[in-house]
Amino acid sequence: MLVNVHDFEAVAAARLSQPAYDYYRGGARDELSLRRNRQAFADYAVHYKVLAGVKEVDLSTSVLGMPVSMPILAAPTAFHGMADSGAEAASARAVTAEGSLFILSTLSNTPIEEVVQQASGPVLFQLYVYKDRGVTRELVQRAQAAGARALVLTVDAPVLAVREKDTRNRFTLPPGLVLANLTGTGKETLDGGGLDTYVQRHLDPGLSFQDLEWLVQQTDLPVVVKGVVRPDDALQAAKIGARAVVVSNHGGRQLDHAPATLHCVARVRQALDPGVEVWMDGGVRRGADALLACCLGARVVLVGRPLLWGLAAAGETGVRQVFQTLRAELIEAMLLTGCSRLDQLSPDLVERL
Ligand code: FNR
Ligand code: LAC
Repeated sequence: MLVNVHDFEAVAAARLSQPAYDYYRGGARDELSLRRNRQAFADYAVHYKVLAGVKEVDLSTSVLGMPVSMPILAAPTAFHGMADSGAEAASARAVTAEGSLFILSTLSNTPIEEVVQQASGPVLFQLYVYKDRGVTRELVQRAQAAGARALVLTVDAPVLAVREKDTRNRFTLPPGLVLANLTGTGKETLDGGGLDTYVQRHLDPGLSFQDLEWLVQQTDLPVVVKGVVRPDDALQAAKIGARAVVVSNHGGRQLDHAPATLHCVARVRQALDPGVEVWMDGGVRRGADALLACCLGARVVLVGRPLLWGLAAAGETGVRQVFQTLRAELIEAMLLTGCSRLDQLSPDLVERL
């Protein structure tokens, strides 16, 4: 019986090839940050309220003005085609059917046009900046024309950290899968090599705040900056025009030794004007994890691997079940905390142990 996200991972592990499972689950080097992200949720206690008269819980909120049914969104992750033949189209259908919002990775196996078309709610586009600015500009224009509702610029991957499981497996994309947003650019395959080699060859390691400025000028879409852990970086991004920042260490896949993202949320929130949204991801596996993050100042959380476990376990249905499980857990946690709405979640409800 699939009771929680961990159960979905167990089924996914049995169904995926070893290299695919290792790619999805792995982190950088010693995987310290991967573990830290998860452990951080155990570092807080919730001082719940009683006799609060909460009959019903309303999990609805909005991001960048777009309504969502709950504060749990889909993080951008590459290569859904390894998990299910429906790939990102299946994921996007599932996530939007749950009233949540889907962020498509630049490195998807399904093109943005098809994903937007199949989704019943908002799709955002995660952007990797290519050395070839012509390709980058095309990606931006393509996402915009397809109907993506925002651009999520990932800033924590100037180079791809070594994930040693991938090195040992000589991980590459299985035959038949391509980078569907890059067809016709000559950059649509990994050429049988590793993802780190691809990133080194094609993505710009020298990305700077000037490039953020460039992007903000390129587009009318809201720009979200993903991969921040420092308040000063968040503030500078906001000054340049980022409408939201994602407190993230890429799911422990980039700088090992990066802090647990949960521990960074409150400081980033404090540094920014209230109008700039703070999203977070990393290690969210339970509804109550979202409650903690929201107490500390996150507007919403994103889940990366849990979506992939749902997709690998049971395709579109599996993704829906994962989101439904997280929703049910969050409702339970809200009721037991004595809160009926997300705006009642505040730092004074939690204690860092
Ligand atoms: C990612 N992540 C990621 N981020 C991004 O901006 N672009 C990408 O293409 C990817 N690809 C990717 C692949 C896989 C397999 C994983 C696990 C992660 C990072 C992702 O958006 C998010 O930050 C983390 O996954 C959040 O942590 P959890 O929920 O996986 O613990
Ligand atoms: C990863 C890249 C694709 O984490 O973001 O594998």
